[in-house]
Amino acid sequence: MEGFSFHLSGYALQPRADLAARLVDRCLTARVQGLEASRISIGGGLPISYTDADSWHGFLAAQNSGHYHAGRTFHTGDFYPYYSPAAGADALAALLTTRPEGHGAPLSSVLGDAGVTLLLEPGRALLHQAGATVFRIQGVKERDGYRILTVDGTSLSLSEQWFNSEYLPDPVLVPRDRDAEEGTFPASVGAATCLESDMPTWRKIPFRRRPRTGDLLVYPNTAGYQMDSNESPFHDLAIPPKIVVDHTDRPRPRWRMDRHFT
Ligand SMILES: Cc1ncc(COP(=O)(O)O)c(C=O)c1O
Repeated sequence: MEGFSFHLSGYALQPRADLAARLVDRCLTARVQGLEASRISIGGGLPISYTDADSWHGFLAAQNSGHYHAGRTFHTGDFYPYYSPAAGADALAALLTTRPEGHGAPLSSVLGDAGVTLLLEPGRALLHQAGATVFRIQGVKERDGYRILTVDGTSLSLSEQWFNSEYLPDPVLVPRDRDAEEGTFPASVGAATCLESDMPTWRKIPFRRRPRTGDLLVYPNTAGYQMDSNESPFHDLAIPPKIVVDHTDRPRPRWRMDRHFT
């Protein structure tokens, strides 16, 4: 017996502070019963900001079904909060200064007074600015006013898509040849399975160069929620390999296949 833990969906501070204080009370009760109970874990849920406040609020105000393939509708609340006023470590600081319901002091004092250690399990916040996901364009379908790029992967590797949401950072187009035509080329991104709903990106992204078969699409900052937990060999597609890039203590970065794929 070491203590108690929880993980809450969402990113709100007050419910986390309230529940943390309740677990501190549980530690005190457990100690009366002769148990050690010296720590609590509050799980994950520290938000991160992918963009600034103006860009985020501007996007939310402007977005409409015309911006997405098949006229799909996303409501404001469907999205991850891509901007948070207090993100990462600042969110933790704000949590510690939040006063839990029924307490006259902030969470930091509630913990300190009880001699309880706070543990965290940050997921997305720990991996902020890490990782990228690369797809190869297999085909380009021209639609009315935009195109669909079909790629050699599935939306199962971008977790926002499984939650009926959309991973909003623009993928970077890396053209195969330097002579790609410049202009504005809106395109959504379709995956390699038979499901019409299997879309790595519903949004029509205004690419600045004409996307072509063989080009790469690089989604940035995907380490936190890019994973193959939902992938399976069912479609006869290889589970995506993972590449580790190591640039610590080296003059030049080195890469290698992740150990699971060697
Ligand atoms: C038990 C637990 N801890 C931590 C996390 C990480 O959450 P986050 O990425 O929001 O920090 C999760 C995510 O689902 C979880 O289930």
